[in-house]
Order: sequence, then structure tokens, then C-alpha cells
Amino acid sequence: MTSATEALLKDDFADAVVRGLSQPRKVIPARYLYDWQGSELFEAITTLPEYYPTRTETGLLDAYAHEIGRIAGTGKVVVEFGSGSSTKTPVFVEAVRAAAYVPIDISADFLRDAAAGLARLLPGLDILPVAADFTKPIALPRAARGRPMIGFFPGSTIGNLTHAAAVDLLRAFRATLGEAPWLAIGIDLRKNPRLIEAAYDDSAGVTSAFNLNLLARINRELGGDIPLDAFEHCALWNDDLGRIEMHLAATRDVRFHAAGETFSLREGETIHTENSHKYTIEEARLLARAAGWRPVRYWTDARGLFSLHLWRGGADIMEP
Ligand code: TRP
Repeated sequence: MTSATEALLKDDFADAVVRGLSQPRKVIPARYLYDWQGSELFEAITTLPEYYPTRTETGLLDAYAHEIGRIAGTGKVVVEFGSGSSTKTPVFVEAVRAAAYVPIDISADFLRDAAAGLARLLPGLDILPVAADFTKPIALPRAARGRPMIGFFPGSTIGNLTHAAAVDLLRAFRATLGEAPWLAIGIDLRKNPRLIEAAYDDSAGVTSAFNLNLLARINRELGGDIPLDAFEHCALWNDDLGRIEMHLAATRDVRFHAAGETFSLREGETIHTENSHKYTIEEARLLARAAGWRPVRYWTDARGLFSLHLWRGGADIMEP
């Protein structure tokens, strides 16, 4: 990264922090959780005993990715939105016998590492990385255009958006993927709130460290003096909105500086850092339809924790 780009990114972070902490209900956009330290901590979250989504989805892909290939047809261009460093990609790409793989990510650095890793694992696979914001329709590389495509969006990342934003995103995917595309998407299911709360507030304290790292990052990058011991991680199930909310709660009245401004919170006041919406199967299918996708099939694990869906886009499709 050039120092000019770094300066721009820092301004963006500073703006978001100042704007978010100046509101009556304080909030910092979740994307800032994922600096280098945050990304490492998130990797650690995915292997925690309480964090069921990653291992359950991996199990579903191991069991059913071949079926996705059978139903949708093999030999398509696989377009992954938010290319993971995850182990899920090779399983999917192999099972559907991808003709090419297009990872899309906003971070060019991350994209380069992910593409290099996959190239080592699957030599011979045609990899066409795209550094872009996938929330907007994207013009894909010439080599991918006009070919049959299947989008891949694992990790229940869709759940990190509000319903309205999720519909917009899924519409953008349709626009990006061209004519009559397919989409394989992982969606975490509604379940006993205690299981969800445990997944987002583990006993080893890794999720707490992940959330608190946001404040440490403000101190590191924006000249902040936030006393980290005045905050605690909390994960609250919001039943009306069907989501688990992550907050940083002040354990006492606190005052600090960051990005050249002064902020204060009363004891108990929170900074809202992330949401993770959970869907029933029926809600997931409604979400698909609201965004112009047709649900084709879905799979869940025996305990009903997580779901994997296959959808079809395009106006020219007949109902079965
Ligand atoms: N996409 C993940 C999820 O919603 C992100 C996540 C997991 C997360 N644990 C977290 C975000 C804790 C913030 C805090 O499951």
C-alpha cells in the first residue's frame, strides 16, 4: 500500500469514529473491526467450541457442494463475494468443477494473499481477482463475462446487514453475475438465543478481545487515550429484530480523546459495533424472493443450526 492510500484510509476511519461517537446512540461500523489484529482474532473465533457457524457450514459444504454442482451444472465461473482465507473455497470450487474463480474483495492485499494461497492448493485453476466493493454491481474481468456463473457467499455474512441492506446486496449480486446466474449462500438459522449468545460471547474471551480490539485500534491509529478497562464486550439477542447485537458497554462514566475530539459515555452506555441477523428457512426464502432470486434448494445440519441455500436468478425461469 502506498502512504497516500494509507493516509486516505486513516481519514476514513477517523471520520467514521468521530461521526459514530457523536451520535446519541454511539455506533462504529463493523468493517473497522477487521484490521490485522482483528482479522487474526476473528480467525481464532471460527475455531471456538461455542462458535458453531463455521464448522457447521463447512460440514454442509463437504456433504452437499457436489449436489450443488449436479443441480446447477458444473464448469461455471465461481464468483466469491468477500473472498475468504477460509477452507471453504477449495471444497466448493472443486465440487462444482469451476471453470474459473473470481474472488472479489475490497482489500487488494487480502485478495492477493487469498489468490496466492488458492493457486498453490489448486494449480491450474484460472483465478481472476477483482479488488472492488461488492455491495455495488461490478463489471467482471473480460475473461469471465458472458460465461455461466455461480456466486458463492458463505459465512452468513448476509446476516451482518439489515434486511433492507441485505435485499440491496442480493440485487447487486444478480446484476454482477449476468444472465440467469446461480447463488450458493450460507445463512445462519434462528435458534435458542442462549446458543447464539454463547457463540458471540465465548468463555475463553476471544470474541471479547476481538470487539475490544476496535478501541485499541482507535488508540493505535487515531491517537486515542481510551481506557480499555472501562469497557466490556456484550452480546445481546434482540428477538424483535432477529439479531444478536455486539456492543462495547462503559462499566463506569468515562471520558477520552480520539481523532482530535473529546467524547464521553455514562456508565452502562454502549457503542454498537455489529449485528448478526438470524433467519428461519422461510425468512431466508422470502429474502431471496424480495431480491429477485428464486429459491431452488436448501440444506441444513441435523441440529438445525445453519443453512446452505441454492438460488437462481433471471427473469426467464419457469417455476418447477
Ligand atoms: N460474520 C460473523 C457473524 O456474524 C462475524 C462475527 C462473528 C462477529 N463473531 C463476531 C462480529 C463478534 C463481531 C463480533 O457470525
